[in-house]
Amino acid sequence: MVSHNLLVGCVLTLASASAGAQETFTPERIKQGATNYSQNCAPCHGPRMSDPQGAFDLRTFPPDQKSRFLNSVTNGKNSMPPWGGLFNADDIEALWAYVVAGEKK
Ligand code: HEC
Repeated sequence: MVSHNLLVGCVLTLASASAGAQETFTPERIKQGATNYSQNCAPCHGPRMSDPQGAFDLRTFPPDQKSRFLNSVTNGKNSMPPWGGLFNADDIEALWAYVVAGEKK
């Protein structure tokens, strides 16, 4: 019954991966992201993500697509400039915390 055990293993892995998507963030972490956001992202995405005009409305960014967020912010996307040269990975993680948990939806 090797194949059966493999199948069970896969299901368990998937279950724990999606549970990991429910991240919790400390208030300090969110505040770090909010500060970077207001200085660098607000001009296009709006103050407190509230008035994005032509840019992406970050309040609607899917919370289960963290790798997409990290990639788009690091490398840029179309008319959005890349931020990988200005922010380190820790800063970008803090921006993620702010986008996911910083403003009440
Ligand atoms: C110069 C204006 C500008 C600035 C500054 C800017 N963005 Fe953007 N951003 C855009 C535009 C325009 C898009 C839409 C890109 C597209 O999908 O064509 C976008 C899209 C995004 C997306 C969605 C990407 C996706 O995968 O669909 C994220 C996330 C994002 N921005 C985060 C940020 C963060 C975080 C900052 C600050 C570090 C920032 N942006 C600063 C213009 C900007």
